[in-house]
Amino acid sequence: MDTRHELRETPVTRRRLFAWLGWGSFASFFLGLAVATARFFFPRVLYEPAKRFVAGKPEDYQVGEVSTRFKKSQRVWMIRTSEGIYALIAICTHLGCTPIWFGDEARFKCPCHGSVFLLNGDNVAGPAPVPLYRAAISLDLNGNLIVDKSLQENRPGKRDQPPFFLPLPGRPAA
Ligand code: FES
Repeated sequence: MDTRHELRETPVTRRRLFAWLGWGSFASFFLGLAVATARFFFPRVLYEPAKRFVAGKPEDYQVGEVSTRFKKSQRVWMIRTSEGIYALIAICTHLGCTPIWFGDEARFKCPCHGSVFLLNGDNVAGPAPVPLYRAAISLDLNGNLIVDKSLQENRPGKRDQPPFFLPLPGRPAA
């Protein structure tokens, strides 16, 4: 007699059905556990741009320029004056929106609630309670501008000195 044939034809008993369900639940539980453990080792991380970045060379900026070159990627305006250069953080001090530079009015204006800031960062209108912040700025050994957003200052006097202001010899606008 062919026992394999007999086995194939064995009807699914209630006991066997419960055994399958039991083993299925057991397997699902451990599969879920394995997936959760794997996700623990590969967490979902929000990668922000580095706090410190290279902002080119001083000669890349014209005297009187408010450069938006790093506004999108770093939320920083590079501002070159006849005395030097500073990196103004493009984050409104009210609730964090990104202000817009209006060159013809020499003002930064926040589109969210109407705060207005001067070129030096001072808040002059709207609900923003304090001036815009500046990031630390320096030159590396190769003459590159290094902006470090982990160091910030907005107090008049302090913000106008290194490391929040980098003195440079004046250069006539092109
Ligand atoms: S976030 Fe800029 S004024 Fe409110």
